[in-house]
Amino acid sequence: MSKPLISRRAAALSGSAKVPGDKSVSHRALMFGALAVGESRVEGLLEGDDVLRTAAAMRALGAEVERLADGTWRLFGRGVGGLKEPDDVLDLGNSGTGARLMMGLVASHPFTTLFTGDASLRSRPMKRVSAPLSQMGARFFGRDGGRLPMAVVGTNNPLPITYELPVASAQVKSAILLAGLNTPGRTTVIEREATRDHTELMLRNFGAQVDVEHGEQGERIITVTGFPELTGRHVVVPADPSSAAFPAVAALITPGSEIVLKGVGMNPLRTGLYQSLSEMGADLAFENEREEGGEPVADLRVRHSALRGVDVPAERAPSMIDEYPILAVAAAFAQGTTRMFGLSELRVKESDRFAATMRGLAACGVQVEEDGDTLIVHGTGKPPMGGATIAVNLDHRIAMAFLVLGMASADPVAVDDAEAIDTSFPGFVDLMNGMGAKISKTEAVL
Ligand code: S3P
Repeated sequence: MSKPLISRRAAALSGSAKVPGDKSVSHRALMFGALAVGESRVEGLLEGDDVLRTAAAMRALGAEVERLADGTWRLFGRGVGGLKEPDDVLDLGNSGTGARLMMGLVASHPFTTLFTGDASLRSRPMKRVSAPLSQMGARFFGRDGGRLPMAVVGTNNPLPITYELPVASAQVKSAILLAGLNTPGRTTVIEREATRDHTELMLRNFGAQVDVEHGEQGERIITVTGFPELTGRHVVVPADPSSAAFPAVAALITPGSEIVLKGVGMNPLRTGLYQSLSEMGADLAFENEREEGGEPVADLRVRHSALRGVDVPAERAPSMIDEYPILAVAAAFAQGTTRMFGLSELRVKESDRFAATMRGLAACGVQVEEDGDTLIVHGTGKPPMGGATIAVNLDHRIAMAFLVLGMASADPVAVDDAEAIDTSFPGFVDLMNGMGAKISKTEAVL
């Protein structure tokens, strides 16, 4: 059953709210807790479908994982190298992060793991992880094009490798580092463009030796030393900056708005969107800056702003890769042209987000262009027309981006199926409506 929603023009947004926990940090907290000896506690875990699938998978791999009455999650891990063969297929749902990181985990364990997911995940490329993990000794049997369902036959004799990432991907980097935990010697990943470093930070916090050096051309050289003793930790998950992006842009484009988003993660490798919005003239204030659980966080105050078009350089893409659909929505309300460079990775996300963003904006009356990997949005400084129904194709961020557009466009905007929003942002509609949005169920297709 699909779940269509419609978003109508809202009055000024106000109030303060905390968006759910960071998806990247949540997956890692569960995985590392499952590898650690002793008890780990995770506070503020994102209880979205993607992360709940990872919790179930870690249980299937032998860890004890439970949710306590106060919402804290408690884990008892198996120790590095101690995972057990799951007795059924691991279904990671919509989650590329869950699937790819876990392939790394099991690659250096001597058993076979079967992976599958929903139609979106089954269409996504897995060779980017199976290629380096094969060099370490694991074997992969998947569908044509290296797609799920896929069997991973782990090795009991893993080899440490040095691997330079061909694409900027924190998932691929993390998969190799996680395989390296149960591998003798030093496993090294080289990245030309820095990607989110939650794996490095959190692994260190659990007791692993992770060394980061910088090469002559500015590349990051990340090395994990095998067989660390990881011990249980208390992890506090910051609010997800990628989720905060939706109410933040909603406030920027809805006249008269002023909102505060509490405790948003401000890891510098995640904040490219906020830098780009500031360059567009957004009134953003980062208040009460502090550290929580080893990650910088701040309360983000956002006021309605007149935005102008900017160029967003390709080097910034890794630090805002999930935020282009919502940035493109902001650009549709700006005065002038916004050019977003270097977006090839956008085509292999939960859906082809490059195409979905272009199609959706065009359907809402926005002038958009594509030039290779550059997405170009021509804003007029006036609200776009809206008045379209957007096909979501199991992509949570496409659904949320266009519901935000409908909050300030001339006519309402509908999405054909909002179910996917629960993968990363459970409670999205209630949180937005609590601040003044008008998002509701609909039968009508516009
Ligand atoms: C993630 C990395 C990014 C991002 C995804 C989460 C992670 O993917 O799009 O939502 O947690 O490592 P890529 O590694 O494919 O860039």
